[in-house]
Amino acid sequence: MYELLYRRVLQHIPAETAHRLAFAAIRFAGAVPGLGAGMRRVLGPADPVLRVRTLGMDLPGPLGLAAGFDKDAEGVDGLTALGFAYVEVGTVTAQAQPGNPRPRMFRLPADRALVNRMGFNNHGAAAAAERLRRRVEGGRAGSRRRTAYVGVNIGKTKVVPEAEAVGDYVAGARRLAPYADYLVVNVSSPNTPGLRDLQAVERLRPLLAAVRQTLDEAPQAAQAGHAGAPEPRRVPLLVKIAPDLSDADVDAVADLALDLGLDGIIATNTTIARDGLRTDAAEVTELGAGGLSGAPLKERALEVIRRLHARVGDRLVLVAVGGIENADDAWERIRAGATLVQAYTGFIYGGPAWPRKVHREIARRARAAGYSSVAEAVGTSGRPGPGAHR
Ligand SMILES: Cc1cc2nc3c(=O)[nH]c(=O)nc-3n(C[C@H](O)[C@H](O)[C@H](O)COP(=O)(O)O)c2cc1C
Repeated sequence: MYELLYRRVLQHIPAETAHRLAFAAIRFAGAVPGLGAGMRRVLGPADPVLRVRTLGMDLPGPLGLAAGFDKDAEGVDGLTALGFAYVEVGTVTAQAQPGNPRPRMFRLPADRALVNRMGFNNHGAAAAAERLRRRVEGGRAGSRRRTAYVGVNIGKTKVVPEAEAVGDYVAGARRLAPYADYLVVNVSSPNTPGLRDLQAVERLRPLLAAVRQTLDEAPQAAQAGHAGAPEPRRVPLLVKIAPDLSDADVDAVADLALDLGLDGIIATNTTIARDGLRTDAAEVTELGAGGLSGAPLKERALEVIRRLHARVGDRLVLVAVGGIENADDAWERIRAGATLVQAYTGFIYGGPAWPRKVHREIARRARAAGYSSVAEAVGTSGRPGPGAHR
């Protein structure tokens, strides 16, 4: 049905308009009392083999929605009702900003890809924090049942000079920490001038150290998703990196993350490369600058996860994103070392039934390989599964 809707309607309207329409429907479903919960019961991951305990969360499955879809934390309930185990909201910047002029999001259907130069359009950290606070406090009184886990991805406000980037990230982190199950420092989007330069270790070190310190000092307010009494907790911190880093730079970020006591790395963001596309080169050039996501990113994103896993083993939680289109891709990333996986473009092309389908098929693969939990498969590439010994 989604394929029909996509072919007849969605693909004929601008990509961002299609996104807004689809997201409005998802938000509506999440907001109708009883509907979201009912959908979550039917579509949400329920197979115990999928359960993943990581970063202080007890997730029903490994697949989450990548940052950029729900920039302002407006649709967490609707999105988890479709079957995502968690949602990474953002990128949120300390100050509200409009992003780049439209059009700024384009489909490359022949490549199962997107190009975007959104430029962190968002309502700012105060608005996102308020929305997340209301969500948590609006939960049924006394209910301690968690309905959704929320990662919060923060970035730099465009008008803030690069020399003041640390203070800007810290301001965002301070506002949002109380509502984040985990926090991500995004230094890898290609659409904010100079942002990716922050990935250089000498600039990344003070930034990550300052955000870590802010999280440690932040008031232990609500634990996101819980309507009960707040519990003291340490907010896990991750950094999200670009696929365009050299291998040496990937290693350097991994070493830094270990050195600073970070919890994990999210790999990868979109790429500025345009290699190997089927879409006509002139057409691609015409679209202009932006980050490329989806299938063309698959190979490099997998390579980065492999590299990170070889470097850090299980000392950091690796979150794989980039070109995950189906359960095979997700399973390969898990076996390469990812504890969690995320997607954006695969969901756009796959439609609302996609998260459920991917989770179901990951469960099938895990069982077929003889694992009692997906977690047992993390980093097992090149090793026979337990089933091989039975
Ligand atoms: C339209 C669009 C907007 C995005 N916005 C953000 C963002 O605000 N912050 C971020 O960290 N990543 C953002 N991303 C990157 C995704 O989170 C993801 O890292 C990337 O698209 C690769 O995954 P995919 O191939 O599954 O899409 C965006 C991606 C797309 C397509």
